[in-house]
Amino acid sequence: MHNRNNIIVISLDYEGNTYQVQTREGKYESLMCLISEHLPLRSFGICYGGGCCGTCGVMISNNDTGLKKFILSCEVQIDDEIANSVVTIYRV
Ligand code: FES
Repeated sequence: MHNRNNIIVISLDYEGNTYQVQTREGKYESLMCLISEHLPLRSFGICYGGGCCGTCGVMISNNDTGLKKFILSCEVQIDDEIANSVVTIYRV
């Protein structure tokens, strides 16, 4: 059963360090917003989710399925699909 109050755990991998974040669906407008709140990245997400700057690109590795994909984080919702994923942020 889908529950918006479920805890969603995501690992943020940046410059060799891993930061584990716990959140809930709907707390952030997008993965880009979550990353921006947790990491001090100057040139990340500079169009604020407009989909035109390309600075919010990340690699998402899903621990459950083994799938990896490169994607704009401003286009990713925080929901059960991203739970238990490792999100690698490249230096921008
Ligand atoms: S924030 Fe600019 S493309 Fe995602």
